[in-house]
Amino acid sequence: MVLSERIGRMNESLTLAMTQKARELQASGRQVLSFSAGEPDFDTPLVVREAAIAAINGGFNKYTAVQGTEELREAIAAKLKRDNNLIYPTKNIVVGTGAKHSLFCLFEALISDGDEVIVPTPAWVSYPELVSYCGGKSVLVQTKAENNFKMTASELKAALTARTKLLIINSPSNPTGSVYSREELAALGEVLKGTSVLVISDEIYEKLIYGVPFCATASVSEDLFKRTITVNGLSKSVAMTGWRMGYFAAADEQIAKAVTKLQSQSTTNTCSIVQKAAIPALDGRADDEIETMRKRFELRRDLALELLADAPLLKPIVPQGAFYLFISCKAIEPDSMRFCLRLLEEAGVATVPGVGFACEGYFRMSFATNEENIKLGLAKIAEFANGYK
Ligand SMILES: Cc1ncc(COP(=O)(O)O)c(C=O)c1O
Repeated sequence: MVLSERIGRMNESLTLAMTQKARELQASGRQVLSFSAGEPDFDTPLVVREAAIAAINGGFNKYTAVQGTEELREAIAAKLKRDNNLIYPTKNIVVGTGAKHSLFCLFEALISDGDEVIVPTPAWVSYPELVSYCGGKSVLVQTKAENNFKMTASELKAALTARTKLLIINSPSNPTGSVYSREELAALGEVLKGTSVLVISDEIYEKLIYGVPFCATASVSEDLFKRTITVNGLSKSVAMTGWRMGYFAAADEQIAKAVTKLQSQSTTNTCSIVQKAAIPALDGRADDEIETMRKRFELRRDLALELLADAPLLKPIVPQGAFYLFISCKAIEPDSMRFCLRLLEEAGVATVPGVGFACEGYFRMSFATNEENIKLGLAKIAEFANGYK
């Protein structure tokens, strides 16, 4: 066998597969409106770009500390204190090449063969794939639409076993946009009391939130602070998907050391220039531009929801955060893959089937695209859905 058993356990991302299929159709001359990828269409804020240029011209071209420069980790620690009321020493913070890389390294460092990882679904495609690659077993907990797809304390209790190592919380969520309140997180925290379960809280959509407060899991109680690893990054909120910078902070320094060891033998440091550029993205200097983008996303969310009313059989979850609509297509087609493939081939609109998020009967549509595309795309979706046979 050429390939390892390990790599065979991982499936390709459905999001990327749909984006690829849309590209192929486009290459063959078809007009395709794409709502499949999860990235802002905005430019990176000017202060960030200027900091990168200054770093290049200033000769900041050498290896840095594997964990990230002290200056950057200080900026992250200050951000966590200011925004989330979390106090971490810089030695407990590790910078990675995107939040996805930080998550991958954390799974590698924490999961032993057969360990169980509780993943409330619908969930971002990469969690279960990374968990199985690292030898773990994802325990998918199907949450309910009537609870806005948030896991309840009793659902968590029922999923816990002696092998549970980790719980993943993603708030605001990809794909549903649901946001856990402090009370909901506290209730989950109560269930974990007295166990050795760690929590990975993926807070990458923290800044993209509409009308509700954001609550960092680690800020809820002393017990949750100790067991939670806070993961965040700049890709989504600062329009920096291509720059590749993410980070985590853990109360237990051992975890930071283990991931630093792994990174030292694999990626070494995140790009030195990006580390310099990240500082104004974290210290408040880009806040006005970040807020302008958030407001545009909120307007787009409202526009998309308003236009979707023209397809009464499609029922969205109203997202309180992130930049996706997660829409039920059950009333016309329970098979989400079939729905999305037909939508792409017949109407030229690319979305992602719910099955890729472990949730049949739904599809995800990103609204991180301009208003014109949203209007055109939703008119096509409504026409397609209303005439579906
Ligand atoms: C929930 C979630 N976490 C993490 C990431 C990865 O972000 P990054 O670009 O920082 O690797 C994504 C990107 O799609 C995401 O949706």
